[in-house]
Amino acid sequence: MLELKHISYTVSDAGAEQTILNDVSVNIPDGELVVFTGPNGGGKTTLAKIIMGLVTPTGGQILYNGKDITGLDITERARLGISYGFQQPPRFKGITVRDLLTIASGDNKLSKDKCCRYLTQVGLCANDYLDREVDTSLSGGEVKRIEIASLLARGSEFMIFDEPEAGIDLWSFARLTETFEEIHRTHSATMIIISHQERIIRLADEIIVVGGGELRYRGSAEEVFPMIMADTMGSCPVLTRKEAAK
Ligand SMILES: Nc1ncnc2c1ncn2[C@@H]1O[C@H](COP(=O)(O)OP(=O)(O)O)[C@@H](O)[C@H]1O
Ligand SMILES: [Mg+2]
Repeated sequence: MLELKHISYTVSDAGAEQTILNDVSVNIPDGELVVFTGPNGGGKTTLAKIIMGLVTPTGGQILYNGKDITGLDITERARLGISYGFQQPPRFKGITVRDLLTIASGDNKLSKDKCCRYLTQVGLCANDYLDREVDTSLSGGEVKRIEIASLLARGSEFMIFDEPEAGIDLWSFARLTETFEEIHRTHSATMIIISHQERIIRLADEIIVVGGGELRYRGSAEEVFPMIMADTMGSCPVLTRKEAAK
């Protein structure tokens, strides 16, 4: 189980203190698929980076399977089985898709068949991609899917996906959703998926709504989805004021 206890993150911006996360406490039980959703700028990515060790919280504690991991760096957390797929994945010039999957899997002799399986799971055809470099010649959606395939190759027990739907066509997205569903069904990993997509929200055991640097709500898809739909205007103060003035 992952436990976040009173996590805070403040930055000093031109001398002024800005609170990005304020006293966030949450437990993620083993084998669950939890979706973090909420308005842009709410703090979801920062929270994911804090779990992965890419951002150091200014307050609070993180426990993983009862062990305090607050002071561990990203490599040490990766060794414990935590992995994170960036909202905007980095590109690696000179490294092919096959190299990336091989490095991620830790198996120097990763077979073409296995590479093919990982790429198929994210809706890509291995023949078209294995020898391509993970550089700027790939589209945003392609890099995103290749990164997700590398997380699958790594086979971590705790995976965090940050808006996996971004830049992905509907066909590939359907394939990707099936992959998440399969991981969940076979209990092969605990997953946090940051997403705004109804299809992903509906897969989740629990939805956590993050807004204004705080956890706003935790509940089932049935409870949370209607709230999100009803709140589309409420997230814009200007529109809300206009509505009120009518
Ligand atoms: N290092 C930082 N310095 C200043 N502001 C930051 C920093 N990191 C994040 N923020 C701000 O914190 C807020 C939350 O960002 P983020 O976690 O990316 O939100 P989300 O993923 O929910 O859209 C945003 O307003 C963002 O600009
Ligand atoms: Mg984000």
